Amino acid sequence: MSNWIEGKVVRNRHWTEMLYSLSIEADIDPFIAGQYGRLGLNIGDQIVGRPYSFVNAPHESTHEFYSITVQDGPLSPRLYELRESDPVWIDRRVNGFFTLNEVPDGRDIWMFATGTALGPFLSILKSGEVWSRFENIVLVHAVRHARELSYRDTIRTFENRHPERFQMIPFVSREPAGFAMPGRIPAAILSGRLEEKTGIELDPACSQAMLCGNPDMVADTRSALKEKGLKKNLRRSPGQITTESYW
Ligand SMILES: Cc1cc2nc3c(=O)[nH]c(=O)nc-3n(C[C@H](O)[C@H](O)[C@H](O)COP(=O)(O)OP(=O)(O)OC[C@H]3O[C@@H](n4cnc5c(N)ncnc54)[C@H](O)[C@@H]3O)c2cc1C
Ligand SMILES: NC(=O)c1ccc[n+]([C@@H]2O[C@H](COP(=O)([O-])OP(=O)(O)OC[C@H]3O[C@@H](n4cnc5c(N)ncnc54)[C@H](OP(=O)(O)O)[C@@H]3O)[C@@H](O)[C@H]2O)c1
Repeated sequence: MSNWIEGKVVRNRHWTEMLYSLSIEADIDPFIAGQYGRLGLNIGDQIVGRPYSFVNAPHESTHEFYSITVQDGPLSPRLYELRESDPVWIDRRVNGFFTLNEVPDGRDIWMFATGTALGPFLSILKSGEVWSRFENIVLVHAVRHARELSYRDTIRTFENRHPERFQMIPFVSREPAGFAMPGRIPAAILSGRLEEKTGIELDPACSQAMLCGNPDMVADTRSALKEKGLKKNLRRSPGQITTESYW
């Protein structure tokens, strides 16, 4: 059951004609980096709500959500149209287990995202814990087109602060982009190109991997990581692969 309260849009940043970041002021429960809230709008005679991961860190008071308009989707194209001062429903309660609490210790953490699933990783990276628990942090962001690589300035602050420990590896799959890796994440894991690029080995003894976004990417990347000896992380049987699918 949702517990809707009214929030207020303070900004809607349009990155492209499909990608946007909604900033919302609302008095909701505290969350942990990696968790998600729910946004809703009145459509017909009901509130249509969907989950969205927090992009802001828990200590930041304005809540931010990074989204894409899905063609014919009931909610996402309407959220794209919201403007400053517009009301939006937000669930007071937060949810989700895609958090560092659920990830065992390791030397290296790999964060694999497609599209808007970059969001929860930004929240985690803006929080302190990941920097005190892991030595090497690799953020892998896969998009179709180079212009969908949003939040470059935010990512640059992590690179500048932690040049020896943090790497961002972009993948652009549907056009050539010299600075990015071509193709898809699982193929680059299986061929060894990703390890070569980062100079870090995927090894169950020291790697933890968090996967978020397109469920096919999550499944295929999990299979590729299993080939490297990593296994699914479960509370009753800790492993190295922690996942969240967006649909
Ligand atoms: C735990 C969780 C967290 C989520 N967090 C986010 C988030 O932070 N940002 C975000 O954009 N979406 C997120 N989503 C997806 C989001 O809840 C909506 O599904 C999405 O915004 C589309 O809403 P819709 O009502 O327009 O269409 P829906 O009816 O909800 O979706 C229709 C179809 O759109 C596609 N789709 C859905 N979401 C995406 C996406 N993000 N990227 C590409 N294709 C997609 C799928 O094929 C899906 O079947 C999350 C989903 C879950 C389960
Ligand atoms: N981005 C656009 O230009 C565009 C255009 C029209 C509509 N849309 C809408 O946006 C949604 C898609 O959004 P999106 O582009 O953010 O997400 P996406 O389709 O999930 O693609 C994001 C990245 O994930 C990769 N990927 C897909 N399946 C994978 C798998 N099995 N293993 C590994 N990687 C995989 C894609 O590679 P591939 O490119 O190889 O698939 C791409 O690099 C669609 O629902 C559609 O409605 C987007």
